[in-house]
Amino acid sequence: MSLSNADEALIEAARKAAQSSYSPYSDYPVGAALQFEDGTIVTGTNIENASYGLALCAETVAVAQAMAQGKRSGLEVVAVTGPIDRGDGAPITPCGRCRQVLNELAALGGTDPRVLCVGKEEVRVVLLSELLPHAFGPDHLA
Ligand code: THU
Repeated sequence: MSLSNADEALIEAARKAAQSSYSPYSDYPVGAALQFEDGTIVTGTNIENASYGLALCAETVAVAQAMAQGKRSGLEVVAVTGPIDRGDGAPITPCGRCRQVLNELAALGGTDPRVLCVGKEEVRVVLLSELLPHAFGPDHLA
């Protein structure tokens, strides 16, 4: 299935964000871009730390950025890109923690965003609910 122009633009935004990655320890720059229903795009990239375990993933940075801008709803599409010359070229999928972080913003607005996982030759499109079935979310605490 071919991607829409909007999806291609979102992937490009993620790639651009990855250019600002601070990843001297892994040398694995990741970019994330969030598309909202009003057309807004918010991006993030991974930020590592000399204390390795404190690294912030690109998706988490993007969600924090969006929520710091006041966004609480309308998350429709997420694009994630990694370096195409590393690993086996398989599409990069959000880590477990990022799935949970993405779920918080999605759940607030009642959406189930499509996640564009970009690989060397393939873009795998999955729903967040497929990546994180039976998610724990804000409704559980209501
Ligand atoms: N990373 C992300 O930014 N997102 C993910 O979903 C997976 C991993 C980052 C964390 C670390 O800076 C680097 O990739 C290598 O694990």
